[in-house]
Amino acid sequence: MLIKKPDDVRSSEITPESVYRNRREFLRAAGFASVVSAAGLGASGCAEAEVRAASQLGPYDTDEEQTPYEAVTGYNNFYEFGTNKDEPARYAHTLRPRPWTVQVDGLVRDPKTWDLDDLLAGFTMEDRVYRMRCVEGWSMVIPWYGFAMADLVNKLEPLPSARYVRMETLVDEEQMPGQRRGFFGYTLDWPYVEGLRMDEARNPLTFMALGVYGREGPNQNGAPIRLVVPWKYGFKGVKSIVRISFVGDEPLNTWQQENSREYGFYANVNPDVDHPRWSQAREERIGELFSRDTLMFNGYAEHVAHMYEGMDLRQFY
Ligand code: MTE
Repeated sequence: MLIKKPDDVRSSEITPESVYRNRREFLRAAGFASVVSAAGLGASGCAEAEVRAASQLGPYDTDEEQTPYEAVTGYNNFYEFGTNKDEPARYAHTLRPRPWTVQVDGLVRDPKTWDLDDLLAGFTMEDRVYRMRCVEGWSMVIPWYGFAMADLVNKLEPLPSARYVRMETLVDEEQMPGQRRGFFGYTLDWPYVEGLRMDEARNPLTFMALGVYGREGPNQNGAPIRLVVPWKYGFKGVKSIVRISFVGDEPLNTWQQENSREYGFYANVNPDVDHPRWSQAREERIGELFSRDTLMFNGYAEHVAHMYEGMDLRQFY
């Protein structure tokens, strides 16, 4: 997410310059300049046994080239570990993904705190290759590892009165140094919160990821469990979830609370609705030389557009 508000960002720019420059510098420093990854090296530099690019594609997967492991796990947004893209990879080792509990409460048959492994019992893990479009103007193709959120919703049995699900990230200054006030110069109002409408949570695309590239972790991608909603801007994908609440009213999410003019509840990827400070019409795919058009609902319209029929997407952004 963009915190700096540079005066020189022209609305015609595809990506705010500061973001663009940081990304280039970062990619160069990390040794995966565009040309390198564009050459199709995939998960280059990682031991075969360690990471597995998804090869068996299912009905919801994109066959676009998967962003190299180094970029997926080295270029992150996770403000609990700092606001720069390289900081989560540097600092997230202090997060302890086990033992882990998830409190389930609100409008649900059996409110209780689950040990994560009990919560996961019975789910079939799979790989899902999704486009991820960040609101800042860049995108990746990520092979996630996890399971459908619909399975989790079914297991938890929300009451018919539940209309939304609200999810929260861990708050722990010891494990998450970015939560210490002033540690990185900027902090959000913790915990990080996100929410979905119940039909969005049950949509077959909506995914709970335990990791990337065929295995759990790493921490910087939201271990031990995070949300992935591929037709929405990346910020909806709340990481390191410790609480899931089924509620009647639309929950206020972190970025909406931070700046409601710029960030809404829905956050559906929409090239026709500009961010107040920049266009959302195009995106820069990490590893590619040229920018590309951003697709309505990030290319997932056939699976999700029906949920928003009759809604004014300029009003519900
Ligand atoms: N979840 C928490 N708890 N804290 C965050 O700062 N950043 C969000 C989202 N989930 C964030 C978060 C944003 S802005 C994006 S783009 C994605 O995580 C990035 O996920 P990735 O780093 O795995 O690519």
